[in-house]
Amino acid sequence: MTHRLETFFKPKSIAVVGASANTTKIGNATLKNILISDYDCEVYPINPKEKQILGEKCYKKLTDVPNDIDLVLVSVPAKIVPQIMRDCVQKKVKNVIIISSGFSEAGNHELEDELKSIIEKTDMNVLGPNVMGYKNSADGLDASFVYGKARKGDLSLISQSGALGIGMIYLANNEFVGISKIIGVGNKLDIDDDDLIDYFAQDPDTKVIGLYIEAVKDGRKFMNSIKRCKKPVLVVKAGISEAGARATASHTGSMAGSDKIYGAAIKQAGGIRCRDVVELFDMARALAGQPPARGNRIGIVTNGGGLGILLTDACVENGLTVPKLSKTTYKKIDKILPDLIKPNNPVDIVGDAGFYRYEAATRALLEDSNIDGVIVASVHGGYARPQEFTGAILKMIRERKLHEEYKKPILATWVGGKEFEDLVWDLKSAGVPIYPSAWRTARSMMGLYLEGQRLKREKKKGN
Ligand code: COA
Repeated sequence: MTHRLETFFKPKSIAVVGASANTTKIGNATLKNILISDYDCEVYPINPKEKQILGEKCYKKLTDVPNDIDLVLVSVPAKIVPQIMRDCVQKKVKNVIIISSGFSEAGNHELEDELKSIIEKTDMNVLGPNVMGYKNSADGLDASFVYGKARKGDLSLISQSGALGIGMIYLANNEFVGISKIIGVGNKLDIDDDDLIDYFAQDPDTKVIGLYIEAVKDGRKFMNSIKRCKKPVLVVKAGISEAGARATASHTGSMAGSDKIYGAAIKQAGGIRCRDVVELFDMARALAGQPPARGNRIGIVTNGGGLGILLTDACVENGLTVPKLSKTTYKKIDKILPDLIKPNNPVDIVGDAGFYRYEAATRALLEDSNIDGVIVASVHGGYARPQEFTGAILKMIRERKLHEEYKKPILATWVGGKEFEDLVWDLKSAGVPIYPSAWRTARSMMGLYLEGQRLKREKKKGN
């Protein structure tokens, strides 16, 4: 059965109410983004004063448009919005995005209640008010006023905060994390986080779902949607501290709720809690490109002993283990190390390690049935050559696809300066999960382990 939000994300016709010829206005940016989208649909600007905007015929009222409209974006001052919504009802519009602010978030509860009563007896899907809209990179449609394109990929993002959601688009681009869809939910008059999780759960263009939330309206519905979802759901929940909860109340007018209860409920539903949006992107990169870890036993390959210890500590602090090597693995690695060095886990392949030592040690760990995932690390220490490390990673993940061959994840860590950074840029753009700190790598591996555990539980239940 087609999901009720299918025409919301893939409309054949769009109207922009409050479209403007004035380039400083949100109604202008919204119309322009739709028109420059690589997406085929009818577009209708609505403005009582104009005959044409950006080359498109303009209508005075929604109800003047002679054809059906799948999606309406509203960008007029709050007090005019109820009338526009009545026009939407009359025109039998299925989907509406209310960009306008000035409702419950500003203490204007009566105006928001009025909108609620207008849509109450309809089957209209309404996003907002107080939202940026969405960018659907998978299909090429930009139904937002936000400047810039999101890189196309597998992650669908839901943000309760407009500005943070917008910042996340640019951060994702910078981090080379590809986006399928990114959407702001604002005041959640109608479309809520759980509706979107349900939609993305069945969306073939979404592999991983990410959320920034401050509060949810219906905790049970929210948790059930995560429970139903067969894809990884990453949740950044803000308002953890007392002061943060106070800030939440004044930001969106919602109650942050007990953090402990949220944490336990998200975990129980099978979601993965992230500490911030950077961690969400870290985990999304790992989950989109690597298989989940079937257990928590991690092998570490490093050219620097200190980084190996930091990685070990970070793994253990995040519920992973770094077991001793089996006899067979010990022998395999012993053969490739210089005479004076003896293998251990973390495996220190020492400062002069080149491409071959990296790949041979990683392969030996992947072949070990006591190891569920491998972290490959490099420090730019003196004579170490970063390109030997990044070249080895590229070969292992991109060309030889060792993670697919062994069905175990491989993550990478680096510590160094500019020369390293340029090489890492290439790795990131190739989708390689590489991180500039032991902690971030271990947390991402933990994400892969939690996803592995969730899949195991699903299998047990027969799903
Ligand atoms: N139907 C269609 N268009 C109408 C209209 C109607 N009934 N009544 C007025 N308009 C037109 C206006 O004439 C204007 O067009 P113009 O530039 O040609 O004059 C256009 O709609 C916009 O109205 P205007 O009064 O100029 O408002 P604005 O553009 O300054 O602000 C909002 C409108 C919605 C952007 C503003 O009220 C707002 O809410 N801003 C915050 C948005 C936001 O941040 N959202 C959350 C993001 S995360």
